[in-house]
Amino acid sequence: MLDRFERTINYLRISVTDRCNLRCRYCMPGEGVRLIGHDDILTYDEITAFTRVAAGAGINKVRITGGEPLVRKGVTSLVGMIAAIEGITDLSMTTNGILLPGYAGQLAAAGLMRVNISLDTLDPGKFRYVTRGGDINSVLRGIEAAQKAGLRPVKINCVIKSTPDEEDARAVAEYCMREGLEVRFIRQMDLASGTFSVVHGGSGGHCARCNRLRLTPEGMLRPCLFSDSEYSVRELGAEEALRRAVQDKPEHGTVNHKNGFYNIGG
Ligand code: 5AD
Ligand code: SF4
Repeated sequence: MLDRFERTINYLRISVTDRCNLRCRYCMPGEGVRLIGHDDILTYDEITAFTRVAAGAGINKVRITGGEPLVRKGVTSLVGMIAAIEGITDLSMTTNGILLPGYAGQLAAAGLMRVNISLDTLDPGKFRYVTRGGDINSVLRGIEAAQKAGLRPVKINCVIKSTPDEEDARAVAEYCMREGLEVRFIRQMDLASGTFSVVHGGSGGHCARCNRLRLTPEGMLRPCLFSDSEYSVRELGAEEALRRAVQDKPEHGTVNHKNGFYNIGG
């Protein structure tokens, strides 16, 4: 699909849940998150049906995100359903890694190709603080499990305050070098103020080359992370939602008041 600015749209990010088993300070409030009701969330059949239409229209790259995708029951079956769609040549997931020790093998067997795992620090105490209670050892075991399962490359997402030179970021970089992991540094962003930064080593953040669409857990198709426009897949149908989202994709992002990272998946 080509948009008005001649960008080829071939990448779909699917957020399967707004729930998470962590509460990272830069992502979620500590409590009082209003969660989507079960009836409002797209079923795996609905997500798959939409993705099939999107693949027919030129989407060949899919990433499953959240919230934390592994907290949604049966997400392995969704991976299998999407992997079976003709035309999907790249299937990945962004996860916090906490549940990966138990899931990596079955995800790879279902057809997941690779994972991005979030890790901002190697200090267990800081990790517990930033994530409001997370155990870094689960993540480290998750990373190992992903490598053993053959999910390649394993990329590490490291949120930084200002530069990849800060102490925690450097420690994460060294660890990644040692373990054969790719690392991407992401400057902390604020959706409501439109503070958006380029990911060091990532493909996002360059509006002129942006190839993405996003599907939210409730089935809203969004052309841009930094815009409020969205099209309901349930109300419009897949074809029309796709047509309008591509047509409406802004040249540059501005601000987003409706979503937080936990329900749109970065
Ligand atoms: N700024 C930058 N990155 C963020 N993430 C979550 N919230 C923010 C934020 N405010 C990142 C996580 C994870 C990915 C899903 O999004 O670290 O790697
Ligand atoms: Fe959960 Fe990821 Fe948000 Fe942390 S950044 S609270 S792991 S969704």
